[in-house]
Amino acid sequence: SQVELGGYPHYMLKEIFEQPESIRAAMRGRLDRDQATAVFGGLNLDARRLRGIDRMILTACGTSWHSGLVGEYMIEEFARLPVEVEYASELRYRNPPLSSDTLLLAITQSGETIDTLAAMREMKRKGHPVLAICNVVGSSIARESDGGVYLHAGPEIGVASTKAYTSQCVVLALLALHLGRLRHLSYEAGLRIIDELEALPEAVERALESNDVARRIAGLYASCENFLYLGRQYNFPTALEGALKLKEISYIHAEGYPAAEMKHGPIALVDEATPSVFIVPQGGVYDKVIANMEEIRARGGPVIAIVDEQDERASAIATEVIRVPAVADFLQPIVTAIPLQLLAYHIAVLRGCDVDKPRNLAKSVTVE
Ligand code: G6P
Repeated sequence: SQVELGGYPHYMLKEIFEQPESIRAAMRGRLDRDQATAVFGGLNLDARRLRGIDRMILTACGTSWHSGLVGEYMIEEFARLPVEVEYASELRYRNPPLSSDTLLLAITQSGETIDTLAAMREMKRKGHPVLAICNVVGSSIARESDGGVYLHAGPEIGVASTKAYTSQCVVLALLALHLGRLRHLSYEAGLRIIDELEALPEAVERALESNDVARRIAGLYASCENFLYLGRQYNFPTALEGALKLKEISYIHAEGYPAAEMKHGPIALVDEATPSVFIVPQGGVYDKVIANMEEIRARGGPVIAIVDEQDERASAIATEVIRVPAVADFLQPIVTAIPLQLLAYHIAVLRGCDVDKPRNLAKSVTVE
């Protein structure tokens, strides 16, 4: 590859550590304090058309589908628009009843994933406006969409997506802010979101300081064959993404679940050799997630908790703790993804896996 490793043992680790910068790049020139909104050069849909949107369908595959789930919560909260998130491979063969004012948003790092491209073409054929969030400039999906937003994350070489994921979440937050400000979001609320976004790169820098702790915890659990990842609300997609990272590069079986849903099945897996990774920063469902953690501990399952820097209650129950800076709810999926990426990375390295080129996986799936 023409991209240098710059002293890192793997592209994945390099890309994990690039995230403060890739997140800055995703926001650069896009925050407008005067109007308390986000601005984009290439949406190609004017304010009147965007105000007329009655619903959004977000479609993607893999990690990009997880960022879509985060986007669903953001768009519902800031823009009060109904959102569905669909696997592109399913959407392409479905025929959902939708009005022509339903907007399709395709999310893709490569811009070449065949299912995402096909789902987009199918929706376009039926007259829906289609936008795309892409990293690769000039890719097929970028070219065929009506407009969209680039991540500007730089090339991502590691097959398991890291920096593209967090940049997708950032761009989705910007889009939610933009759509919100065209509808009912107040000037003050818009400014607060901008303040929170501007503080994000530094919070991600501090989250990267969890690397040593993540490596130590990896050493304790690298030989386990099953992991659960649990979170609620904004951090339910984080649980899915944490589990996917571990599966992809370490070949350990891992399941992400909404924390409360585990009692309907996955809790049967819990034993001393099955760690549960809880994503439990402060917020509306904090007490609820703590109650879920207690259920796991009561059954002898080890708990690795991702918590805020100042946390006391969740940390007291957990077996192992990883601390990250406290941020607004909608940014928690970005900050808490960092230690989960690091944990998966160190476990995979300890198991001797080929981190950048995991078996059976491709960076971009261009055949159906
Ligand atoms: C492959 C990659 C994943 C990626 C997915 C979607 O499975 O291994 O890392 O999330 O494709 O790719 P895209 O380029 O559309 O985001």
